[in-house]
Amino acid sequence: MKGIVLAGGSGTRLHPLTRAVSKQLLPVYNKPMVYYPLTTMMLAGCREILLVVNPADEESYRRLFGDGRQWGLEISYATQPRPGGIAEVFLIGRQFIGNDRVGLILGDNLFYGDSLPAMAERGAKGSGAVVYAYWVADPSAYGVVEFDAADPERPVSIVEKPKDPRSNWAVTGLYFYDADVCEVAASIPRSARGELEISDVNAHYLREGRLTVEKLGRGYAWLDTGTPSSLLRAAQFVETVEERQGLFDRAHRVVIVAGGVREELQRAFLLHRFRLDLRMPWMGLAITSLGFGLGHTLQGLDAAIGFVEAFRAVLGRADILEPRLVVVDEARGADGEADHNVIDLVVLAQLVELVAQSDVVRDRREVL
Ligand code: DAU
Repeated sequence: MKGIVLAGGSGTRLHPLTRAVSKQLLPVYNKPMVYYPLTTMMLAGCREILLVVNPADEESYRRLFGDGRQWGLEISYATQPRPGGIAEVFLIGRQFIGNDRVGLILGDNLFYGDSLPAMAERGAKGSGAVVYAYWVADPSAYGVVEFDAADPERPVSIVEKPKDPRSNWAVTGLYFYDADVCEVAASIPRSARGELEISDVNAHYLREGRLTVEKLGRGYAWLDTGTPSSLLRAAQFVETVEERQGLFDRAHRVVIVAGGVREELQRAFLLHRFRLDLRMPWMGLAITSLGFGLGHTLQGLDAAIGFVEAFRAVLGRADILEPRLVVVDEARGADGEADHNVIDLVVLAQLVELVAQSDVVRDRREVL
């Protein structure tokens, strides 16, 4: 599945903050805003990502992410000459999408919740269009979805920023579509404000009976960051959770253990995640205790870089460790619960690749 992160727009509600800087590069506590939606896309399983930005900001984003390879991603860039509506990304990204299913996330949306990976994966693997609704006190600033009175899971209407909202269910900025979305976006008329509205795309799928709206319960946080107050609240939210759980420290603790650690477990893990069946006596390098937890969204990217770098160093000392196989343990938090870790998968793929290419592995087939 492909993923698009939309990070253009004019950010007028944040002026003068956004006069010289792209809104999605502003800090949310200790990271640029765009990190959060990008990692949500990764949680949905996207590795090929198109970042749509304003022409003047492309250089800054390239400096931040490059081609994404350092995180196991393939990031490409496209520009939107002027803010012509969210659904315009499907015209801009038509070639990128091809015949694949595609996820879209707005670069100013921050999602948090323990079940986020499963929630995003349902959208990624679903059919037609899948969007998410979140109960808010004041829905009039959003796309609003109304549900059938007799069947509270069945959406009956979607309206962009209604003056008189028919429910409190706001449509969030995370969407999944089949490849038809490019045709749909090309077929809808521009709205009164001259934009291709994402709500019109969703309403189109709804009319065709191909729209699923999943309600996000109170266990999720969905924050937007479009005004000075909401930006501040998002930063405070991240700070509160990170500091309370000590995630920053945990995410940077990389433990490398030489020796055959929990061989059966590691073997099962590799087989399950990568279909790597390793039938050989091996010496495992277990890298454990990554413990991203919430950090899959909040700290994961930074940790991943440190992780790969640390491993490069280890490989350079092959004379000492003689690694023949690298295993990344499933990250577990201090409470022993498995973390739903997005980065471990990306990093593991990279590490396996690193070892495979390294001359410490004399026979590549031993690894792959
Ligand atoms: O956040 C969820 C809401 O996002 C939805 O409920 C609405 O249905 C949807 O229209 C959108 O409403 P907003 O008022 O938040 O849209 P806004 O114009 O602020 O744009 C959202 C993000 O997308 C923002 O980060 C800028 C970016 N954007 C927007 C437009 C219109 C672009 O990159 N290009 C654009 O042309």
